[in-house]
Amino acid sequence: MGPFYLMESETEAKRLLIKSDHRKTAVQLKATGILSLEDGALVVDAGSGVGHVAEVMGRLLKQKSNSPHVTLLDYSADRLAEAKQRLLADQQVNYQYVSCDLGHIPLASESVDYLFCRFVFEYLADPQTVFNELYRIVKPGGKLVIGDLDYNCMTHYPLYPKLEEGLFSVVRILQENNLLDPHAGRKLYSFFHRAQLADIKVHFYAHHLFYGELSEADEFNWLAKLDRLMEHQKKGTIQFDFDLMGFKNLFLDFLKSPGRFSYTPLILVEGRKPE
Ligand SMILES: C[S@@+](CC[C@H](N)C(=O)[O-])C[C@H]1O[C@@H](n2cnc3c(N)ncnc32)[C@H](O)[C@@H]1O
Repeated sequence: MGPFYLMESETEAKRLLIKSDHRKTAVQLKATGILSLEDGALVVDAGSGVGHVAEVMGRLLKQKSNSPHVTLLDYSADRLAEAKQRLLADQQVNYQYVSCDLGHIPLASESVDYLFCRFVFEYLADPQTVFNELYRIVKPGGKLVIGDLDYNCMTHYPLYPKLEEGLFSVVRILQENNLLDPHAGRKLYSFFHRAQLADIKVHFYAHHLFYGELSEADEFNWLAKLDRLMEHQKKGTIQFDFDLMGFKNLFLDFLKSPGRFSYTPLILVEGRKPE
């Protein structure tokens, strides 16, 4: 059995595809130096899901290199199979698919030139172990990039008291059960600092930023999050000490109201492993 992933579901592949934005991902990869890599560099997409990041990596690397190498790591063999299906047509990129827990990666130490891991730390019960493992496989002089959200799902206005209470209770229960860290983003720099990475830089982006009419993609994404909570409650994997269904309906109505403003910051940290 793989690690517990809060969002696990048959529709997770669809959610990841719908919510992914190629343009934003390309901006983040370029800002953290993917285009400065030398020919033959090994690039890793850690916690790849269905390979959206890997796809953008391949597209960017092809501008510079004839046969770039991109390895996708994810514990979900199903999502990796879907990634393979989607990336199969691109014969110019040498894609490898490795199904593993990021706490135990079957790649040689000091073998990777550039590793990007985004929207994964928020779900980890033991982020230090995964950080150590990502650090282990990066070459001396290689680049480690980890990004995650801060105030995850929490920043909306105007939230009336009952709704705010429900939202904060959901987040608290997930956090107490080690299923979601809503402040994973702000904690990333400490990992890099403690491990004494060189040339640390922190980038700051708006991930969610929506107001006015809710887009279909945002509606699908938020509904999926709420549905996962309902399923976990039904299965008994998470106990909510309040009316979760009532909260879900109120929150969806709130999200659909065009007067609502919502945003979530994304914090992306890069550092170089010392030579
Ligand atoms: C939200 S998706 C992130 C997709 C992609 N990184 C992105 O930025 O769009 C999180 C992925 O991390 C994977 N994941 C979560 N915990 C993991 C672990 N401990 N080991 C390996 N994969 C994990 C999940 O299977 C899922 O596909």
